[in-house]
Amino acid sequence: MDKKIKKEIKGSAEIEQQLSGDEKALLDELGIFGESRRKFLGQTSAVGLSLMASQFFSVESMFASETPNTMEVPLKLINPMDVSFTINGEVESLTIDSRMTLLDALRERLQLTGSKKGCDHGQCGACTLMIDGDRVLSCLTLAATCEGKEVTSVEGLAKGTKLHPLQDAFVEHDGFQCGYCTPGQICSSVALMEEAKNGDASYVTQDIRNISKNIKLSDEEIRERMSGNICRCGAYPNILAAIKEVHTGKDTSVNWQELE
Ligand code: FES
Ligand code: FES
Repeated sequence: MDKKIKKEIKGSAEIEQQLSGDEKALLDELGIFGESRRKFLGQTSAVGLSLMASQFFSVESMFASETPNTMEVPLKLINPMDVSFTINGEVESLTIDSRMTLLDALRERLQLTGSKKGCDHGQCGACTLMIDGDRVLSCLTLAATCEGKEVTSVEGLAKGTKLHPLQDAFVEHDGFQCGYCTPGQICSSVALMEEAKNGDASYVTQDIRNISKNIKLSDEEIRERMSGNICRCGAYPNILAAIKEVHTGKDTSVNWQELE
């Protein structure tokens, strides 16, 4: 047998003996047995494998649930804690892993999948929703911090079959193509209207010393205030038209005949 192969087999046998229960379970879970296992161990450092195992099992434990029953407590929670908050008018109490984000709690535990996971890093705005009326990125918000708070996601905007005026406007102005960013865009624009009513300044507000309530937002202001919501389909002009129409109460539809 080639010396190099012998060395690799010897090395992998030594690593195998030193594996923890989690690391062995990870290899079993991944279906790596026999010769493939020896090769894999020969090429993987012990530190790398242990990191992989801890990541794999902590993610598993955060989401583990035997059934799709939303209130079922996952079986393998490492840092369990109870949290209770209002979501779209309903009080929900959950036992969660203390590291679980609000986005994951809604999507994985409450089956509220309207808030989207785009980047999961606070970069795209697809997960935007409101907590006590302020817009937040739910992928960067720990569910544990929402105790006693009022959370509103896109599912909570319509009243029965009557859409929120901004939802109507997005439909009327084709403010979306694939629709993936749309729940975040709509929640962001609902909160934006409140910010304008309260007289909150933005980065492009000209004179912040004379700012009053009920600000009339220019196109530039709306663009700036919506800049945290990315649309890969580039529906920005239509999104702007939809928000402007609701904000001003004036029809912003393009008259194509006038443009001819
Ligand atoms: S998923 Fe939260 S900002 Fe992208
Ligand atoms: S409509 Fe597709 S990402 Fe915005």
